[in-house]
Amino acid sequence: MAAIFLSLVTIIFSSILHSSNALDVNYYRQTCPMVESTIAKVVRKGMINDKTVPAALLRMHFHDCFIRGCDASVLLNTKGNKQAEKDGPPNVSLHAFYVIENAKKEVEKLCPGIVSCADILALAARDVVALSGGPTWNVPKGRKDGRISNAKETLQLPFPTFNISQLQQSFSQRGLSMDDLVALSGGHTLGFSHCSSFQNRIHNFNTKNDVDPSMNPSFVASLRQMCPKHNKVKSAGANLDSTPTVFDNAYYKLLLQGNSIFSSDQALLTTSRTKALAIKFAASQEEFFEAFVKSMIKMSSISGGGTEIRLNCGVVN
Ligand code: HEM
Ligand SMILES: *[C@@H]1O[C@H](CO)[C@@H](O)[C@H](O)[C@H]1NC(C)=O
Ligand SMILES: *[C@@H]1O[C@H](CO)[C@@H](O)[C@H](O)[C@H]1NC(C)=O
Repeated sequence: MAAIFLSLVTIIFSSILHSSNALDVNYYRQTCPMVESTIAKVVRKGMINDKTVPAALLRMHFHDCFIRGCDASVLLNTKGNKQAEKDGPPNVSLHAFYVIENAKKEVEKLCPGIVSCADILALAARDVVALSGGPTWNVPKGRKDGRISNAKETLQLPFPTFNISQLQQSFSQRGLSMDDLVALSGGHTLGFSHCSSFQNRIHNFNTKNDVDPSMNPSFVASLRQMCPKHNKVKSAGANLDSTPTVFDNAYYKLLLQGNSIFSSDQALLTTSRTKALAIKFAASQEEFFEAFVKSMIKMSSISGGGTEIRLNCGVVN
């Protein structure tokens, strides 16, 4: 009798947990035990063919989670005249969608209709960090895919021109703290930026200064060489740190020297608390990795309003 009662309680509790979209690191243990190794294999192959894949997938996951929660809205294709996030304004850096599509195909062969595209993206983001020399962690899973993607909503992403209070607001709206902001900005240890994202700092900065005075002058000079005032080369830009394919703490070391790319990076040095954290992460890669993992799990758990397991990541069921 007591046993029946207990198992009933367990069933009720676990269904409450699932209906409130609680994520679980063991979510696919029964239904798709090979899901993680299958995704990792596709990601590794993608990285061998294209060194920009890690940065692309990390940024894609950030973008996904900041718009409508982590619900794979970033993966949906534009349909008819309804522009999807993919075609929204700050989409210049979004690429390598095919890696997620390929992972989805392999996972569907293995366990059809079970694994969400949002989970695949969260797992792929973990994999690219680990495969680039960064830390690894257990990803809580059980996200559902959403049915809405709207290009205009990409304006809700933080802008690279944001100051510390604007960044704080953007992060706190999503349940993320200033400590999360400093740790997650370390994602800029990977990848590349187009000139347009830091143009504000290197030409006509303000009425007094042509360039951002907080920047290292030789660094500004090199950026201006790649990105002249009237830049005509659409693909021109700069790497986000000195080792753009290695996940390390070089980003923080450069930040402290005035060699960060965005105003939003530099802004981390404008409050004593965030500056102290940047100094700590520059001094200890281990402390950076530990904080990054904690904050990534928080960011990748921002709940979305997803309702389905998409069969094809680019289109709703
Ligand atoms: C703090 C607020 C943030 C701002 C304002 C910001 C802004 C940007 C901008 C403007 C770009 C370059 C776009 C381009 O011109 O191509 C970029 C690239 C990138 N961001 Fe962020 N970002 C932020 C947070 C994050 C977070 C939290 C992550 C992940 C943990 C992240 C990961 C990346 C990566 C990996 C790239 C390089 C993408 C590539 O090379 O394909 N960013 N970010
Ligand atoms: C970005 O958006 C433009 C138009 O809004 C579109 O032509 C372009 O294909 C998009 N880029 C990507 C990578 O989806
Ligand atoms: C950040 O920018 C906003 C909007 O321009 C401004 O109201 C705010 O005072 C600025 N905060 C800081 C700390 O500079």
